Amino acid sequence: MRFKGTRVLVTGGAGFVGSNLVNRLVEEGAQVTVLDDLFTGRKESITCLNDIEFIEGSITDFDLLEKLMSNKDFVFNLAVRNIIVSVKSPRLDFKVNTEGTFNVLQAAKNVGIERVIYTSSASVYGNPRYLPINEDDRLSTINPYAASKLCGENYCNAFYETYGLPVAIVRYSNVYGINQTPLNPYCGVVSKFFDSIMKNDVPHIHGDGEQTRDFTFVDDAVEATLLAAITPRAEGDVFNVGTGKETSVNELVSRIIAITGSNVKHNYIDRRDIDNIRRRVLNIEKSRRVLRWFPKTTLEAGLKKTYKWLLQQELRNSDVMIKDPEKAVDALVD
Ligand SMILES: NC(=O)c1ccc[n+]([C@@H]2O[C@H](COP(=O)([O-])OP(=O)(O)OC[C@H]3O[C@@H](n4cnc5c(N)ncnc54)[C@H](O)[C@@H]3O)[C@@H](O)[C@H]2O)c1
Repeated sequence: MRFKGTRVLVTGGAGFVGSNLVNRLVEEGAQVTVLDDLFTGRKESITCLNDIEFIEGSITDFDLLEKLMSNKDFVFNLAVRNIIVSVKSPRLDFKVNTEGTFNVLQAAKNVGIERVIYTSSASVYGNPRYLPINEDDRLSTINPYAASKLCGENYCNAFYETYGLPVAIVRYSNVYGINQTPLNPYCGVVSKFFDSIMKNDVPHIHGDGEQTRDFTFVDDAVEATLLAAITPRAEGDVFNVGTGKETSVNELVSRIIAITGSNVKHNYIDRRDIDNIRRRVLNIEKSRRVLRWFPKTTLEAGLKKTYKWLLQQELRNSDVMIKDPEKAVDALVD
């Protein structure tokens, strides 16, 4: 119960990673306030909605942020306009991801916060020169999303060095799992593939499928984020959050097809302008050493957990009356 009795603000707490973080914080006994404008977030993802304070609003509202932070110990900043929105509308991305993060830091400085945790992205590495990627490797912002996420990191560093604001940064790589709903049009590739395959539709791979990523199960990403908040040596530092394992999109789709037992075949379509990163796998040694964190969930286990959850959602939303959807899917997925 590391967070028992602590007062925590989570921005973007109704989103995919945010809702998992909020659910964990409440389990650990924290008093949680969520600030989310419900752009992509869904209140239903927060299973403990009755145990938290939910504020519908934006991190672009500085006065609101300052008010909400006035009695908080920790702030986790997960509010974001995601990569797809950001490429279509870089100004909106700038407004939320950069200026919004600046607001979070400025408000935290004004009221005095024990630690601000900023969730950044492996997209700040662009196309890496070496693999696996270390935290101090060259950064290269090859799309507006990467630029705004790095800008957020830079402001974290500036507030830490100039004003002594305690911050820690985690750089996530392709997080997937429970609450990454295909209902969100900007959901990640794992959720998209499951959605198509479960509907017996052909999953589309952009490009040749040989592009690789480091897929991280959400529980592991949440645990690293919590550790970044409470590990004394994490202050002022940045940590990769991945698995250290490289998986191609072709392999990912084959695994998902095998797990679901489907007969569908994937096909290939043109790559999009955001598909300009060929290979990605993170070196997680620093996180192991400093945070004493390591990812516990293999890709196979994480995909099975995700599939189970998606089946449960399907049963819940179907007309068939099923008493206990959780038990019902246990029989389907071992
Ligand atoms: N999911 C991933 O694979 C991944 C990878 C790298 C980094 N990240 C980072 O993790 C964090 C969470 O990402 P996610 O995947 O959960 O995204 P998400 O889109 O599911 O969640 C973002 C949440 O922020 C909310 N939001 C958007 N604009 C807001 C605003 N102006 N004010 C308040 N709330 C706002 C959305 O409604 C949503 O609930 C982000 O900082 C993102 O950059 C995620």
